[in-house]
Amino acid sequence: MKPSICSSIYLLFVLLPTVISHNYSDALKKSILFFEGQRSGYLPREQRMTWRRDSALNDGKNLNADLVGGYYDAGDNVKFHFPMAFSATMLAWSAVDFGSYMSPADLRENLVALRWGTDYLLKTVSQLRNRIFVHEELLWGAAWLRRATGKASYSKYLVDNRHSLGADFNYYEFGWDNKVGGVNVLVAKEAFEKNVPEIAPYRDTAEQMMCAYFPETAGPHMTYTPGGLLYKPGSNILQNTVALSFLLLTYAGYLSKSSQQLHCGSVKIHPESLRHLAKRQVTDYRVLEQSMFHVLDTRRIDGYRKHRRRRYEGDRRSLLRL
Ligand SMILES: *[C@@H]1O[C@H](CO)[C@@H](O)[C@H](O)[C@H]1NC(C)=O
Repeated sequence: MKPSICSSIYLLFVLLPTVISHNYSDALKKSILFFEGQRSGYLPREQRMTWRRDSALNDGKNLNADLVGGYYDAGDNVKFHFPMAFSATMLAWSAVDFGSYMSPADLRENLVALRWGTDYLLKTVSQLRNRIFVHEELLWGAAWLRRATGKASYSKYLVDNRHSLGADFNYYEFGWDNKVGGVNVLVAKEAFEKNVPEIAPYRDTAEQMMCAYFPETAGPHMTYTPGGLLYKPGSNILQNTVALSFLLLTYAGYLSKSSQQLHCGSVKIHPESLRHLAKRQVTDYRVLEQSMFHVLDTRRIDGYRKHRRRRYEGDRRSLLRL
């Protein structure tokens, strides 16, 4: 091979990651379409993923209940309600805060995907007893009901129970099993819009969370892999990355709309820096590539398998109990 070709191939590899342009519109379409692939129950005629068929049509029959529908969790055939409810919230929050950036067709599909989940959850909630909601889950519910209804009673609940239900405990976490980061950011939205002093502590905690993304600030920080990926050891790796990136983008929007910057002690951070960081997390292949080794290296595959099996058994048992 001639040196010039050799070096141009080398250059191609070096430059490739920076010149790839990402088709976000296509990524959005496919993310929403993914939900159709996970559908359980009777599929409608509009179903676009035509390789799927009706499935799990007897769910709940042994309990004399109708538990048909909803979404499968992942590659298995279990319908985990807790993560499913989280997916529904994320679809809803995306529509509320980012719907104006979606095409009318994408927004519609987003709402259809949301409806598929909520129809099922509402149906099962009326049939399953002994539900337990804990801690920040109650605040999460109250925060959404406050937004949906504007009722003062939900706002009062948020104020009265902020500390006892843990809104300031592990405030830098957000994912299907911990909503605390989301609660603070969601309530902060109202604090930005209306400057309500009683709920300002939520905004303060959200701000502390945002500061924790930036290593140049004082105080506790989020964990990153050496390659620069937001990373919470021991859990679904990219699930956390994207959920935390979502909060960055959302909070950046609230700051921009009120012409503000993030204040972290003496450090001021422009909303554009929040967006830049979020974008790097989900589109920078070098960050992903360099982090993969770290992630695979630190996770013990055996332990992970056991965890999956326990989770499945646990869920099956609790379903039977219900
Ligand atoms: C990006 O994706 C959308 C949706 O799939 C498609 O219509 C469009 O042509 C794509 N754009 C480019 C530049 O490939």
